[in-house]
Amino acid sequence: MKLPGHAQPPVNPIGGPGNAYLLPCTAQRPAGRIPHTERSLDALLEALPLPVATLAADGTVLEVNRAAAALGAGTPPAPDASFRAYVPPAHQEAIAAAIAAAHRGEVSRLEVVYHVGDGPPRTGEATIVPWKDPAGRAVALGILRDTSREQEIRSELVQMGKLATAGELLAGVTHELNNPLAAVLSLAELLAERPDLDPEVRDDLQEIRREAQRAANIVRQLLAFVRRHDPMRLPLNLNPLVRDTIALRRGALRLAGIEVELKLADVPAVAGDEHQLQQMLLNLLTNAEHAMATLVQGRRLLEVATARVAGGLELIVRDTGAGIPPDVLPRIFDPFVTTKRAGEGTGLGLSIVNRVVREHGGRAVARNHPDGGAVFTVFLPEAATPAEPG
Ligand SMILES: Nc1ncnc2c1ncn2[C@@H]1O[C@H](COP(=O)(O)OP(=O)(O)OP(=O)(O)O)[C@@H](O)[C@H]1O
Ligand SMILES: [Mg+2]
Repeated sequence: MKLPGHAQPPVNPIGGPGNAYLLPCTAQRPAGRIPHTERSLDALLEALPLPVATLAADGTVLEVNRAAAALGAGTPPAPDASFRAYVPPAHQEAIAAAIAAAHRGEVSRLEVVYHVGDGPPRTGEATIVPWKDPAGRAVALGILRDTSREQEIRSELVQMGKLATAGELLAGVTHELNNPLAAVLSLAELLAERPDLDPEVRDDLQEIRREAQRAANIVRQLLAFVRRHDPMRLPLNLNPLVRDTIALRRGALRLAGIEVELKLADVPAVAGDEHQLQQMLLNLLTNAEHAMATLVQGRRLLEVATARVAGGLELIVRDTGAGIPPDVLPRIFDPFVTTKRAGEGTGLGLSIVNRVVREHGGRAVARNHPDGGAVFTVFLPEAATPAEPG
């Protein structure tokens, strides 16, 4: 970029030490620190990671530095291009007003929304100041600071705050629900044992038990989600845990016509909480069961494998269900994301998986297999001390 700024600008545009490079070269710098030549300032502006552009009063982009050129995905703006090419219509007027104000000698700082190439809208803070280009023409000088990440962090914090409050509420409610549910379940069981029961009543009692059991499972999931306790960190072998957990689901899997293929390799021990890791695996198994239960045709196969990898092990759970809907995939580990009907899923299963895995220093990844079905891969780091053989 040809640096504007040889003519005395009407105001010190930005002020503050962080922006001293934008000062006219005669101003305020101790002599000798930076050579006061047009070339050095040109180079500085060119190297500056902030997009800088000069703009005519009608919004035409006159000159840009390299960072600003990158906003057009590497191509500098076409001759006579307007800033409007980079800004969604709803946000253009405020910028146009700030450019006009700069041409009247005023400085503006404003929040802006813009695009980089064809990418999604980003947010930034623009400072638009009066300036004179080397030919002495009055222009507006715009400096953009991207604030997209800041915005993301801000909304994540708000989200976390909301979740924490929701969590406290949930903890209270679920706790209160536990006892009445246990009473419903045991009374239904007691009643069902009476020999003089009408078969129809017995069927209804079965239904009550099933539904109460389902509610109890949801309560258990919610409690696992909200409960915060320091997990155990004992060296353990994942393979026996996988076998035991599958044994727990054997009945349900058989009923749903699901075959199970276990491929357990010789894996290193992980430092973990057996209870939490079992919950994590159970949630993955239940999802695979659900995904395959509605399958109209094709083989229902649940594959659970462990493998030794650099730094630890991988647990892989693959099913032959319909696969993860593409719109769900990017947020699949977020709490309350579910495609199940109300009452059938809370959308907490995978967020518990993710939390448990992260608390164990690992990571969980979800994808669709090219041959169909979903694949969940969980990496867990190797424990410092080996486990008992299993
Ligand atoms: N194996 C899978 N195949 C296809 N989609 C899946 C699979 N596992 C999860 N999903 C999708 O991800 C969503 C979220 O899963 P998650 O386990 O977090 O919640 P949920 O199963 O809906 O409810 P719950 O809280 O009862 O587990 C599911 O609703 C489903 O759309
Ligand atoms: Mg689930």
